[in-house]
Amino acid sequence: MSVRQFISPENLLKPFSIVKNTALHGWKEVAKRFGLQEDLYYNPLHKKLSKPVTVILVGAGHRGSIYADYAVKNPREMNIVAVADPNPYRVQKMAKIHKIIPAHCFGTWEEVFKREKFADAVIIATPDHLHTAPCLKALEMGYDVLLEKPIAPTEEECRLILAKTKETGRIVGVCHVLRYTPYFRELKEILDAKMIGEVISIQHLEPIEYIHMSHSYVRGNWRNSKVATPIILAKSCHDTDIIRWLVNEHSENVHCFGNLKWFKSANAPAGSTERCTGGCAVEHDCPYSALQIYYRDRKRLYVFDLPGDKSKWDKLILQGLNTTNYGRCVYRMDNDQPDHLTVNLLFRNGVTAAFSMEAFVSYEGRRTRIMGSMGDINGDMETFVLTTFRTGKKLSWSMKTDAHGGGDHPLVRDWIQAVSQQNPALLSSSIDVSVESHIMAFAAERSRKNLTIENIIV
Ligand SMILES: NC(=O)c1ccc[n+]([C@@H]2O[C@H](COP(=O)([O-])OP(=O)(O)OC[C@H]3O[C@@H](n4cnc5c(N)ncnc54)[C@H](O)[C@@H]3O)[C@@H](O)[C@H]2O)c1
Repeated sequence: MSVRQFISPENLLKPFSIVKNTALHGWKEVAKRFGLQEDLYYNPLHKKLSKPVTVILVGAGHRGSIYADYAVKNPREMNIVAVADPNPYRVQKMAKIHKIIPAHCFGTWEEVFKREKFADAVIIATPDHLHTAPCLKALEMGYDVLLEKPIAPTEEECRLILAKTKETGRIVGVCHVLRYTPYFRELKEILDAKMIGEVISIQHLEPIEYIHMSHSYVRGNWRNSKVATPIILAKSCHDTDIIRWLVNEHSENVHCFGNLKWFKSANAPAGSTERCTGGCAVEHDCPYSALQIYYRDRKRLYVFDLPGDKSKWDKLILQGLNTTNYGRCVYRMDNDQPDHLTVNLLFRNGVTAAFSMEAFVSYEGRRTRIMGSMGDINGDMETFVLTTFRTGKKLSWSMKTDAHGGGDHPLVRDWIQAVSQQNPALLSSSIDVSVESHIMAFAAERSRKNLTIENIIV
């Protein structure tokens, strides 16, 4: 599917600018010359819906509420008719926002599926280990599904979901949000239009950022690979997918190095305590201080389910730091996720890709270098510069998006269209390719553990 099927012309033209004195063309000319559409999010197959798609939200946490928010902004397209979550605060919050009747407020996903089918589709945004069972059950009952990544924590479960999708003929959209960011849409369009000739190789960096790392993969729900999924799945299945998408070819071999070097007890400073609130002698000098991150800087507070009344926050945040993992010392957790990884991929067409996932960086936003036979591209998720070898001319692009790259709601829009029209081709990724991106990550994890070069067998 052409990338430029998806953004308004105004948005498209704004971000393009020409690097001073090295102008090739204005974007309009470039688009014309290469036969590109001007509207990134335009899709001729999208239709006006006769009625909204009715959706059950399973897992009303951080991600689930973002996807459900699409219904608030687009009530003619999506209607959240039920919610399931063991956290009553989250259920009530969703019920209020989406006007869900009490009979459709559930404590767990199992309760939802005890009822006869009562909606068109289900969004599954539960923790990683609770994807497979609700997804299989939803498919068996005839629901279409929007499934958060990772598809499942094991390769076997991913294959089960693939098989069940085929058996039932239902639609399963996997939340590859990066594919829907303007940045990667543009890159894909440019590569498909051969604007840098043949792709030869890719270097791709995922800078997690040190606080994000400590929050999610040291203190948070994804800290332990056995409880959640290996970080190469949990964090980097986005990257295996995006690299495969850009190369547009099957991957054949992978090799990975990586380990947990820093966030472990051997590195706990003298005077540090179990919790940052426990009188830690180095709290003021520690970049990972929970008091600094959550209490003073008020970052990433969504995990505390704080009420609207901010006067209560001081007390509730401190309570959270004293009772949850978010207040614990980063050197004294039960974490096992590597804090740095390097992955090498070989594709069937000879293209190679080198991917790094790094915790110890001060910034976020993927960095991408794409080397082509006729030019190259250097980007950082908000900007990129394309250089044409023959002329040396440069074309630059930049666009500010939300913190998640701007792909969340365009992804939901495509899925709603696919469900409404009962056409999986409207999704950016087929379930087969989504599963392949996960198989790449599982193979990388085997390579990391066994120091081997692994075949990627789809
Ligand atoms: N696509 C992305 O970019 C992206 C980003 C972050 C997380 N994720 C993935 O999204 C999923 C959800 O992550 P999150 O950050 O929203 O986590 P979260 O903890 O905020 O939300 C998960 C919710 O599931 C609920 N839940 C637990 N057990 C349940 C059950 N039996 N039935 C119904 N609900 C249940 C929890 O109470 C919680 O509210 C995870 O798989 C995660 O890896 C994807």
